[in-house]
Amino acid sequence: MARIVAGIATSHVPAIGVAMDKGTSSNPYWQPLFEGYKPAQKWLAELAPDVAIIVYNDHASAFSLALIPTFLIGVAAKFPIADEGFGPRPVPAVIGHPELAWHLAESLILDEFDMTIANEMPVDHGLTVPLTVTCGAPAAWPFPVIPLCVNVVQYPPPTGARCYKLGQAIRRAIDAFDEDLRVVIYGTGGMSHQLQGERAGLINRQFDTAFLDGLTKDPVALTKITHTEYMREAGSEGVEMVMWHVMRGALDDQVTEVYRHYHVPASNTAAGLILLENRSPA
Ligand code: DHB
Ligand code: FE
Repeated sequence: MARIVAGIATSHVPAIGVAMDKGTSSNPYWQPLFEGYKPAQKWLAELAPDVAIIVYNDHASAFSLALIPTFLIGVAAKFPIADEGFGPRPVPAVIGHPELAWHLAESLILDEFDMTIANEMPVDHGLTVPLTVTCGAPAAWPFPVIPLCVNVVQYPPPTGARCYKLGQAIRRAIDAFDEDLRVVIYGTGGMSHQLQGERAGLINRQFDTAFLDGLTKDPVALTKITHTEYMREAGSEGVEMVMWHVMRGALDDQVTEVYRHYHVPASNTAAGLILLENRSPA
């Protein structure tokens, strides 16, 4: 049977990808951030999952305001790297896992989550930066990836509670897949940041720390945070953190926090990362 063995949550700030691609990750601005990613890379290399589900949002790269799927799953064999205005990032293409992705699509839709299905889709920094942060710069990504997009760009995004329930449905689907696959799931985005308007540059360390604590110990309480609270406490783009609930809903109720890293600033963003292992044996 397939099993979810661990969850990863991480910010997906595009400038982190640029620093890696341009070779500036060891300069004084970036060094402390990248130093903190090393234990995560070591842990993931040792865990050696067979496949990853990466929950992220498209930033008007694959979709525009013409089409706004609330929840979407990518079932392709390969996902090209999106051109976000400066050419595609020089990173390997993302290899999919169509068999597991179609199983997930069927299972989630029959479990009453109305997923959009993407047979073709370029993937942007929301997906590639988390791979960079946790895998470094390999010649090929070490595992296939199933992209799962959540709309957090156009109001109304789904609630944190709905995202958590989607995670629980993903867990049920993985548990019912009849092949011995060890799966990791990523939730991406956040942490506190606001890129526009009068409060541009807003960071809220207290909120972020409480969120990281709650994610490990009492995730259901965190699912009650409203969109307005995210906006007020974590800035207009802080609402990306609803995607962390998808990851958390897919894990055991009790998890072991393996590691966390929190660094300000990364561009205009508080960059956070947390690694959670399921208690049930893999
Ligand atoms: C930025 C963009 C993002 O999508 C994000 O999640 C954080 C920061 C940025 O443009 O700096
Ligand atoms: Fe983002």
